[in-house]
Amino acid sequence: MEGKRVLLTGATAGIGEVAAIRLSAMGYDVVIVGRNEQRCKNTLQKMKATQGQGDLSYLVADLSSREEVLKLARAYKEKFDRLDILINNAGAVFFDDRRSVDGIEMTWALNHFGYFWLTNELLELIRKNAPARIINVSSDAHHRSRLSAERCIDKSNKVPYFTYGNSKLANLLFTTELARRLEGSGVTVNALHPGMVATNFGANNGIPGRVFNLVTGIFSITCEEGAKTILYLATSTDVESITGKYFYKERQSNPSTISLDEFLAKRLWRKSEEETIAIDRARSVSV
Ligand SMILES: NC(=O)c1ccc[n+]([C@@H]2O[C@H](COP(=O)([O-])OP(=O)(O)OC[C@H]3O[C@@H](n4cnc5c(N)ncnc54)[C@H](OP(=O)(O)O)[C@@H]3O)[C@@H](O)[C@H]2O)c1
Repeated sequence: MEGKRVLLTGATAGIGEVAAIRLSAMGYDVVIVGRNEQRCKNTLQKMKATQGQGDLSYLVADLSSREEVLKLARAYKEKFDRLDILINNAGAVFFDDRRSVDGIEMTWALNHFGYFWLTNELLELIRKNAPARIINVSSDAHHRSRLSAERCIDKSNKVPYFTYGNSKLANLLFTTELARRLEGSGVTVNALHPGMVATNFGANNGIPGRVFNLVTGIFSITCEEGAKTILYLATSTDVESITGKYFYKERQSNPSTISLDEFLAKRLWRKSEEETIAIDRARSVSV
């Protein structure tokens, strides 16, 4: 792992933080992304305490914002000349129907567009460093999805349970299409379900979120356990030539049939590009 650089989002809490600490201990050069500078510094301190030999740093960005993802990618490319492992992990559930700064339903802005934008902005650099890996943290919640060719991106959050599941299906459709596009490039892309993990997940929803965490916490595994499949996909030689797959408990697992639908995966990609172009146009008008 000497000289291998990892970029890991959502590393200031939960399974992302544990993965960041473990990767640091293994000696990887780790760049974490968080939306709050102080929380980034706290995690960085824990990473440094492992006394791994890698270069450790952080970048701050709200990944639900197109502008901030572009700035993040630019800052990364200015500072570093390689990216061996990109881990898209930052995600959340929203109990209310809110919009991102770009006007996208918030669950989708963070859980899907955050992954889509950051990966695409860094893809050239990742390809340059092949062999390289991209890891998308999804969820078994994708099994309850209701996406279709006519409506493949949710515009509002009527039922958070389904909106979250849909966004996590989007992570898998994104993985399917990206793996197809990267065929033969030496860059693999895989997705995973971490298990039901006792984290801060839901805490952004006030008291209902805290109640949700308390109840689900009873049935949940620890963050150490939850981070294992991320670490497996990032570091194991078992998976170095496996791409486009879904993992759970460090093993390949069966995702829903719809997540492998190549037509839907292409359609989601195209629709995501169209949304992005519209956002960029609006941004350039307002500048
Ligand atoms: N926990 C589970 O049972 C479970 C199950 C299946 C899948 N997952 C998936 O696992 C991933 C990690 O979740 P977790 O359970 O570890 O949750 P968590 O403890 O809430 O951690 C989420 C991380 O994402 C960051 N984040 C949230 N909103 C952000 C934004 N707008 N911009 C940048 N970063 C942001 C958080 O930063 P702050 O520290 O600033 O809040 C935190 O570092 C998610 O993709 C989730 O969907 C979790």
